[in-house]
Amino acid sequence: MTRTMIYAHRGASKLAPENTMPAYEIASESGADGLEIDVQLTKDNIPVLIHDENVRRTTNGTGFVQDYTYDEIKRLDAGSWFSSKFSDCSIVTLDYFLRWFKNQSMKLNVELKTNVIEYKDIEQMVYDRLSFHRMLEHTVISSFNLSSVEKVTAIDPNVQTAFLTSTKRRHLPKFAHTHGASSLHVKYRMLDKNLVKQCHHHRMPLRVYTVNRPSWMTKCFKLGCEGIFTDVPHEAVEYRKLFESKK
Ligand code: G3P
Repeated sequence: MTRTMIYAHRGASKLAPENTMPAYEIASESGADGLEIDVQLTKDNIPVLIHDENVRRTTNGTGFVQDYTYDEIKRLDAGSWFSSKFSDCSIVTLDYFLRWFKNQSMKLNVELKTNVIEYKDIEQMVYDRLSFHRMLEHTVISSFNLSSVEKVTAIDPNVQTAFLTSTKRRHLPKFAHTHGASSLHVKYRMLDKNLVKQCHHHRMPLRVYTVNRPSWMTKCFKLGCEGIFTDVPHEAVEYRKLFESKK
């Protein structure tokens, strides 16, 4: 039976502001197997870590990431919305994150946030940064936008990719496979035995988001999902230990 890997969703995002260095540092100390990051592009084409296209929810600024240069966006406070303890947090570049990450011995999931704005050439830019830092082997590049998955596969057919979806459809693994995805990332409510079976058939790792409840974690462990994305990696690590001790 596959041991389910625990990925910290946007870092340990229940304990620190999502997609910031403290969230990733805490996640790394939690015993998680991997980290998930979201990437968007600034006006001057710098890949940065932030989930939303607009900075409003997670910073003290307003407007779109694509309308800020990196010099402008890095001055925003990306932590106070979460807690005053994190008021010195800023939005970091993918490069900055990777320089830290490469000493962590963890897996990485880079989500290209191209489902709302199709940032031109983001696939090549992110690929180049991962390649420069020699992190490709440890990374899965995912997107809700199939065209991004296809572009990454065209750049390098050996890179691990995932199609992300929250929409049920028949023969989903086959569909994702046909579009070049090597794995499938699905919303929790889509998980059932049949999907697991189909993924096995296509040899596609199945990872599930966002799994925060213990009962959901246990279901993923029992079904042998390859991974879960969770905001509470420290709790997931404990529940997995408990699950394994009962086997
Ligand atoms: O990559 C898994 C999960 O992060 C996808 O959903 O909305 O958090 O980007 P979302």
